[in-house]
Amino acid sequence: MTQRTLVLLKPDAVRRGLTGEIIGRIERKAGWQITALELRTLDRATLEQHYGEHVGKPFYEPLVEFMSSGPVVALIVEGERVIEGVRALAGPTDPIAAAPGSIRGDFGVIVRENLIHASDSEESAEREVKIFFPGRA
Ligand code: TYD
Ligand code: MG
Repeated sequence: MTQRTLVLLKPDAVRRGLTGEIIGRIERKAGWQITALELRTLDRATLEQHYGEHVGKPFYEPLVEFMSSGPVVALIVEGERVIEGVRALAGPTDPIAAAPGSIRGDFGVIVRENLIHASDSEESAEREVKIFFPGRA
């Protein structure tokens, strides 16, 4: 089942110099390909589209502040079961609950600053790819 997913390396990952480490983990999975990659700083409108399901929740405003606080690396990754696969590499949302060996488990402490976003379903992936890479629709 070949899929594509939208991945963001969040501003904490960029600031801490962890993008190479995280991209390396994704690249080393057999058969997965990075098919788009861009460094960019996100504005509120883009974040509102991306995190639409979370608008109005108590953590939404601080999340937008954080996500626009510096550049992110946006990627499209394609390959076998890549949607579930990158979520597994990332670990659960709360880095303290994430197992050592996962990206969030190895490098994160704060829920908001959990290093990586990865699409959670095929529908989310298609929606998010269009937001970040409209040319790839
Ligand atoms: P969510 O979609 O629930 O998590 P995931 O990134 O694992 O799909 O939430 C989006 C982001 O919002 C999450 O990565 C970090 C932030 N967040 C908080 O800051 N506090 C919270 O309580 C939750 C649930 C999320
Ligand atoms: Mg999510």
